Amino acid sequence: MTKKIAVLPGDGIGQEIVAEAVKVLEKLQTEGLDIEMQHGLVGGTAYDATGTPLPDETLAMAKAADAVLLGAVGGYKWESLDIAVRPEKGLLGLRKELGLFANLRPAILYPQLADASTLKPEIVSGLDIMIVRELTGGIYFGQPRGVRILENGEREGFNTLVYRESEVKRIAEVAFDIARKRGKRVCSVDKANVLEVTEMWRDVVNELHKDNSDIELSHMYVDNAAMQLVRAPKQFDVMVTTNMFGDILSDCAAMLTGSIGMLPSASLNEKGQGMYEPIHGSAPDIAGKNVANPLATILSVAMMLRYSLDEAALADRIEKAVEKVLDQGLRTADIYSAGMQKVSTSEMGDAVVAAL
Ligand code: IPM
Ligand code: MG
Repeated sequence: MTKKIAVLPGDGIGQEIVAEAVKVLEKLQTEGLDIEMQHGLVGGTAYDATGTPLPDETLAMAKAADAVLLGAVGGYKWESLDIAVRPEKGLLGLRKELGLFANLRPAILYPQLADASTLKPEIVSGLDIMIVRELTGGIYFGQPRGVRILENGEREGFNTLVYRESEVKRIAEVAFDIARKRGKRVCSVDKANVLEVTEMWRDVVNELHKDNSDIELSHMYVDNAAMQLVRAPKQFDVMVTTNMFGDILSDCAAMLTGSIGMLPSASLNEKGQGMYEPIHGSAPDIAGKNVANPLATILSVAMMLRYSLDEAALADRIEKAVEKVLDQGLRTADIYSAGMQKVSTSEMGDAVVAAL
């Protein structure tokens, strides 16, 4: 049966990088991959056209799709808008409405890019971490939230970090399952020394571990985890953590690999539907210049094929094609080093299609 893919490029470089990922899908289509792509608006671009960052039409398209391919949202232009209609709300709304609670963010160092990392090659070579980030709960969505005026006229801002036991359990289950197919180690990251909610997080993960005792479980406070990620990142296999800690740690892990422009992600719900996006943002400073790195988005397509379309062999092919273009010495500006060949966004996309 034809699989439906909602393509939502969003803002800034989202447009350019998604165009390259679509080229890869189109190439596979010519070889018989049975998919149908529909384009929709999200983020600031959607706000400009319709007055909301997540139009009903886009949400309906995403809900009806087997998978969503998303670029990035946000930009200077929309920064002064009310937070309720900012581009980021489009992305957060999609995550919440589709129930995409499990965010998988692999941080893999391609050997070809060992020099692109700001860390010493011996610290990062061979790096292969999977960050499992809870994506539909925690402080991102907790109520109450807002800014109120106190009696003395001073403003007070507040957000709520809240997790239910069931939310912790299902994300920890995902982490244990993934670890079972990899290095069989899970590190759960919390701030249990200060925050009750993450003390409960730790208890729930420990309870679940009783049924997953084939996996080695450790716990780490988030401040230490940030330090360990730059000190000795290869100690980690799978890390599981809250929405906000995962947001921060995944950017940190990304830089170990040389560039945030290399890292894909998958966000899955209980039905196996998924949204696939690079972990980087819309990079308004370089938008429209044809210099952004499309590889994170192309690798997100590989994750889509693997997790939502049951096409693991095609996913492997895309990943191999990416390695091949790196072997050929092709580099976008973010991963460029002396002696390599600097290419544009579209040249990189064409090269991956050719290498397929
Ligand atoms: C990410 C991004 C988003 C987040 C923003 C754009 C809302 O930083 O996907 O990591 O904070 O989750
Ligand atoms: Mg982030």
